Amino acid sequence: MSEDIVRKENESMAKVYWKRPLTINLGKGAILWDGDGKSYIDMTSNYGVAITGHCHPKVVEAIKAQTEKLLSCHGTFYNEARSNFLEKLISVTPSGLDRAFLSNSGTESVEFAFKLARRSTGKTGFIATMGCFHGKTMGALSATWNKKYRTPFLPLVPGFKHVPYGNSERMAQAIDDDTAAIIVEPIQGESGINVPPEDYLPQLRELCDDRGVLLILDEIQTGMGRTGKWFACQHHGITPDIICISKAVASGLPMGVTIATEDVMSKLKMGDHSSTFGGGPIACAAAGATIDVIKEEGLVEMAAESGNYLMGKLRGLAEKYRIVREVRGRGLMIGMELRFDVLNIIMGALERGVLVLDAGRTVVRMLPPLVIDRGQIDAAVSVLDQILEAEQAERLRG
Ligand SMILES: Cc1ncc(COP(=O)(O)O)c(C=O)c1O
Repeated sequence: MSEDIVRKENESMAKVYWKRPLTINLGKGAILWDGDGKSYIDMTSNYGVAITGHCHPKVVEAIKAQTEKLLSCHGTFYNEARSNFLEKLISVTPSGLDRAFLSNSGTESVEFAFKLARRSTGKTGFIATMGCFHGKTMGALSATWNKKYRTPFLPLVPGFKHVPYGNSERMAQAIDDDTAAIIVEPIQGESGINVPPEDYLPQLRELCDDRGVLLILDEIQTGMGRTGKWFACQHHGITPDIICISKAVASGLPMGVTIATEDVMSKLKMGDHSSTFGGGPIACAAAGATIDVIKEEGLVEMAAESGNYLMGKLRGLAEKYRIVREVRGRGLMIGMELRFDVLNIIMGALERGVLVLDAGRTVVRMLPPLVIDRGQIDAAVSVLDQILEAEQAERLRG
């Protein structure tokens, strides 16, 4: 059966993904199963999406109930599921961020943030950071750093500059009279779980206030509790002017959200932006249930506690094996940097029933569902321990 699935996808799907040799059709909590019934501990949440665990019963129930009522409802009409979700979302976002535009993905939420910043400031320039990832549609790609993603698609949207991540002085130097906004990930995900100095975000907030520039935070990967607060900016007591959310917000259904202050959003004109599917009732029902589950099960606190536990275990491995350079992150967003390419580690873990991601060439990235339990964490770490032991022995021999 699996071979048939692989053949069909290989024959027909655009070849833009590096495919793992694994078919997944079933998931529950932090466990996924392949076509042969073999189980895997999921330390990826499908790239940070399945924050409440795979197929959380309350999320599934909310989706099922909504499918009996209405599948689509354009933003030009009012809808119960959408209104309930918006009320819940605004209650957990940093105060002052009161007005949201609903779309379908992370990159779309960034696109809207850029249009909003230009409209609301009348300026055109943006400053992003080296190593950043904000998506791959043309506007978001203009901010994304990696040349591999950018170069084949030049020319991109003009007006973007990049400065070193974690350095507010270089940011200050880059701001000019035409800077509309700066965009930053509170922790860089894609390029290696890079955690900036503690005072970086407060310094950027102050800088933006002084210079009349908008602060856009891309919390697409860090948001919805992953780092041990609802949003990572809350570790630093700052509120951006615009926040981008996606991935985990609807536990796996496509949704992007851009939330801004009333003042910034008020500059938009009717028709400035729209989305046929954005804010559809099924995604909104899933997203509303996601917020309920995160609250009821204390998942934000669990992310902090389980994150500390996992980080402690991984730091133990870093002490044991010289091939591990560093373990870093916050909550359940953790990177383990090795002294070499991590492909062997990822494939070795997969063979032994643990799914992890890469981030850059040398970092093993872990973004497990927040519901992962201690037993599952211990089992995943034990697999990584075995792989690192074998890999270190191999490298010493070589
Ligand atoms: C920080 C960040 N921004 C933007 C995106 C783009 O999101 P999407 O793949 O939903 O377009 C991602 C996806 O990995 C991300 O991690």
